[in-house]
Amino acid sequence: MPKIKSIHHVAVVVEDMEKSLAFWRDALGMELHELRDVPAEKSQVAFLPLDGAEVELVMPTTDDSGIAKYLAKRGAGMHHICLQVDDIVGMLSQLKQKNIRLINEEPRKADDGKQYAFIHPESTGGVLVELYQI
Ligand code: CO
Repeated sequence: MPKIKSIHHVAVVVEDMEKSLAFWRDALGMELHELRDVPAEKSQVAFLPLDGAEVELVMPTTDDSGIAKYLAKRGAGMHHICLQVDDIVGMLSQLKQKNIRLINEEPRKADDGKQYAFIHPESTGGVLVELYQI
């Protein structure tokens, strides 16, 4: 049986990265580990790691991406929660068997080799859920 191991990150979609960092980094004092452009997702992402999980701030860099459309439609705020799983292929097939609506039927591969897939909010109680296998 595939197993969920931990919360890997919580992602927040932001309109203005500097304004958001003024809160998360400067007011809360969280460490900004990296600020990276992710051309594949047409976004800029700030990584603020904590013990065992991190906060990611995601800002769209074009207005035609999925994340940009999300921001235009729903405004800034919580975007998704990411759960680390030990067997993403096994978990996706378990979810399919249970008629859970998936956004990615097959895992996608990030530049750093991590595999990920998204589960549709319709099946999760309204929360976009990402699965990660490292
Ligand atoms: Co994510």
